[in-house]
Amino acid sequence: MNQEMKIPQHIAIIMDGNGRWAKQRGKDRSEGHFAGMMALRATVKAAAEMGVKYLTVYAFSTENWGRPQAEVDALMELVCTGVEMNTPELCQEGVRVEIIGDRRRFSEKVNAALDRITSKTAQGERMTLVLALNYSSRSELTFAVQQLAQKVADGELQPSDIDEKAISQSLYTASMPDPDLIIRTSGECRLSNFMMWQASYSEFYFTDVLWPDFGAEALEEAIKAYNGRDRRYGLVK
Ligand code: FPP
Repeated sequence: MNQEMKIPQHIAIIMDGNGRWAKQRGKDRSEGHFAGMMALRATVKAAAEMGVKYLTVYAFSTENWGRPQAEVDALMELVCTGVEMNTPELCQEGVRVEIIGDRRRFSEKVNAALDRITSKTAQGERMTLVLALNYSSRSELTFAVQQLAQKVADGELQPSDIDEKAISQSLYTASMPDPDLIIRTSGECRLSNFMMWQASYSEFYFTDVLWPDFGAEALEEAIKAYNGRDRRYGLVK
């Protein structure tokens, strides 16, 4: 990669197209998700090598529970397999894993796997991989509003203290910078309830590549496109 290239500090990805990738090959959708997990593995490695500090991936939305039960089960199983398969390499690569989303709906087995991956990788300092699981932006904001309202009710906070910073600090992403670049694969051009607050000044990159075909090369293309953008944050240059 060109040495002059500006690397986004935080990249967030809507990994889309696993089902279509599988269909094109006459495979089951679950095989598409497995291939998606392998693409995620390659992308994490590439992003860490390029110097990205935060990589957030939309792995399971609050709406995804509405998919056929067999597919939901396969995705839950994939979370457990993914933890087993990838934890040693993530530790080796210095990648810390964090989870955003409402974990209460996951089974004990899934939550135990998530605890395992977050605790075993906790020392990683090279990059943070953020897995958005049972995540949606609206549920995140609803939860944040409930927390702030409770503080007001308890007399800990005045309504006028609720500013943008207080809201940001009440989101799952409180400790992270906003994404500089949001990538969506498979040709769809929408946010689908993902990081709506955090995306206020993100650059968007849409590609026709289906998620299982994504990797180092496609990531480099996205970063090149990002380098051609002029980020003004509402100001005049
Ligand atoms: C969207 O493709 C993808 C998902 C809903 C699941 C994403 C999951 C992975 C990439 C697997 C790895 C991640 C973990 C941590 C389990 P789609 O099924 O909507 O594709 P389609 O639009 O072509 O049907």
